[in-house]
Amino acid sequence: MSAYSPPLEGRDPDQHLLLDFNERTLPISKAVEDALVSYIRSGRIQMYPAYGDITDKIAAYCEVPADQLMITNGSDQGIDLIIRAATDAGDEAVIPRPSFAIYAQCAKVQDLIIREPAFTREGGFPLAECLDAISERTRLICIANPNNPSGTAVSREAIISILEAAPKAAVLVDECYFEYMRETVCDLVLKYPNLFVTRTFSKTWGIPSLRLGYVISAPCNIQALLNVRGPYDVNQLAVVAVQAALENPQFMRSYVTEVMNESKALLEDFLDQQKIVYWPSAANFLWVFPRNPADWRDALFGAGILVRPKDDLKGKCGLRITLGNRQQTERLLEVIQSVV
Ligand SMILES: Cc1ncc(COP(=O)(O)O)c(C=O)c1O
Repeated sequence: MSAYSPPLEGRDPDQHLLLDFNERTLPISKAVEDALVSYIRSGRIQMYPAYGDITDKIAAYCEVPADQLMITNGSDQGIDLIIRAATDAGDEAVIPRPSFAIYAQCAKVQDLIIREPAFTREGGFPLAECLDAISERTRLICIANPNNPSGTAVSREAIISILEAAPKAAVLVDECYFEYMRETVCDLVLKYPNLFVTRTFSKTWGIPSLRLGYVISAPCNIQALLNVRGPYDVNQLAVVAVQAALENPQFMRSYVTEVMNESKALLEDFLDQQKIVYWPSAANFLWVFPRNPADWRDALFGAGILVRPKDDLKGKCGLRITLGNRQQTERLLEVIQSVV
């Protein structure tokens, strides 16, 4: 194994436009900032966390009963707990690739045998290959919806086929980018007790640094996962921020609308006009394959814009470009135009 070490050092929001980690590109709301400052000044930093009714509030936002939801330290922790709780060494896992690196990382820690059907630009999610890869010993299937880095959307029907074909496997549906795609399977958790949905406040809500994610699953699974999660794993400041953010979901939604309806359309139109290849995406990022990716990256870097190089399965270099607001996308396009 090797450590999962994303290139995080040296990123500076004062110097760079950060289009490399699929983060929110605008500051958090004043209300969230005020709530954090006021908590820090309240003399309670030296106390252990107390989560109050945060689970009820997040469950209400998700329109699920509170006993179907557990908060975690980012969705990464939810993913880790599900994989640890559902599998033993030597079990099989189906993890289509390329996808978010944490699934394979956690699966390797558990010593699982990993099957890796391939996403394709034309075919999208490899449903038939995933169904073929399921065996008597499959205990885990990971589906990022939409997928990272490709942005590929996975249909509800495809997820249901997998849930039905693998009743003994935990089917982890990672809805990290849910607010951008607005499709969910969390309404299916009672019908399919092998379904685990993970989500986060890291992306659209803009607080990845504070780490708050959650798992939605059948109440018996939530109880089992609570047995594994530590009592203080979630940072109190994350809870304070989310309490304040949930008071005004419109702040998050208006950003999502600008990114998805304006910025994404701008970049896609430009790429289409220039006949530059990219993967169809349901998320706030595009995986783009320019003819000269190194030139793009250098020019963007020179202009203070960071994007993330990500090779496809054949080793071809693509750039995963996060979309920001309209103004930021126009700035991005100006630089790309100069290279093209
Ligand atoms: C598909 C996917 N899942 C999960 C995560 C991690 O989210 P969190 O910050 O909630 O741990 C990411 C982050 O990039 C992601 O792309």
